[in-house]
Amino acid sequence: MIYLDNAATSWPKPPAVLAAMREFAERWAANPDRGCHRMGIEAGQRVAQARAGLADLLAAPDASCVVFTLNGTDALNMALKGFLRDGDHVVTTSYEHNSVSRPLAGLERAGRLSVTRVDPQDDLTLSPDAVRRACNPKTRLVAVTAASNVFGALNDLASLAKAAHDAGAAILVDAAQMVGAARIDVAAAGLDMVAFPCHKGLFGPMGTGALYVRPGLDLRPLREGGTGARSEDETHPEEMPYRLEAGTPNAHGLAGLAAGLAFLRDTGVERVRERELALARAFSERLSGVKGVTLLSARGSAPRTSIVTLRVSGMASQEVAAALDGRYGIAVRGGLHCAPGAHRALGTFPEGAVRASFGFFNAEGDAESAARAIAELAGGV
Ligand SMILES: Cc1ncc(COP(=O)(O)O)c(C=O)c1O
Repeated sequence: MIYLDNAATSWPKPPAVLAAMREFAERWAANPDRGCHRMGIEAGQRVAQARAGLADLLAAPDASCVVFTLNGTDALNMALKGFLRDGDHVVTTSYEHNSVSRPLAGLERAGRLSVTRVDPQDDLTLSPDAVRRACNPKTRLVAVTAASNVFGALNDLASLAKAAHDAGAAILVDAAQMVGAARIDVAAAGLDMVAFPCHKGLFGPMGTGALYVRPGLDLRPLREGGTGARSEDETHPEEMPYRLEAGTPNAHGLAGLAAGLAFLRDTGVERVRERELALARAFSERLSGVKGVTLLSARGSAPRTSIVTLRVSGMASQEVAAALDGRYGIAVRGGLHCAPGAHRALGTFPEGAVRASFGFFNAEGDAESAARAIAELAGGV
């Protein structure tokens, strides 16, 4: 199988991730930090390693700013619903993933807040000036993607944070497609909250996600309960990260994530980025000019991720994805990619498009094989 669906979840995971999860399951799979025995302590150390690894990757001021979640969606819900209050105004984009747009639309429909949605610029990035113009005195949050999972263009987070702060608002970034794929420095960029899954560019297993919360920013917990500490208190602990973490964590997954982060640190985000971009570039170059193939995502000169979105004329996107799978053993994603607004911006709603997303473990020849298969399907070879 040639796997080109790394924007959904990365595959394969580095062997060290599988080994760490296996070792954890076989030797240390007790409840982390809950027991005063060796297994619980070892389990707690794996969780702490994953937290420290994330803080290091994000250049976070300290590890207690990093909260573990179930996935990217869970982190975004925690941020949006834990931060926003009735009567707030939110600025977001018209092309967010459903994990941002649906919670906001739900709160808006319930009459609890108002939302302004900013369209992308021609180069498929978000204009900080347009965000600034969309803010009003009631704006308390700017909630925007770091990189759309359909476009792949990276937004200028520091300028967006400045636009939000100038308007007196906080900024929440959906970094699902950016973490691991490009350098991110939460303190230098002035970000208040950053939500992301850990099963994509961070090489963790599914069921892992995280939310960075700037020190001093007060987020209401959506879940309360056991934390393994201060059991005598009737109320949930106030201090981070326990304030936002209740119940037994996915310690098997976090043991794997700790190994994934070590792999990323040793390899280097820049090296991962260069490799993925070289594959995406080779794929796009091979397909540009092929009759019947329209490349949709490559516009402008903004830095990008390894996502390439395209259409094959005369074929539905799901038909192309099914043919690539069935006839060529190539995994891509058709349809709307949980981001209908992004497809509206590209003019591909409601049909959707084909998305190929390259990962660090793709072989050199994968880009050429996939491009050749698509060219054959398009009849343009
Ligand atoms: C931009 C973006 N935001 C949020 C998510 C949601 O992440 P998860 O599937 O881990 O909940 C995704 C996943 O595809 C995404 O691409």
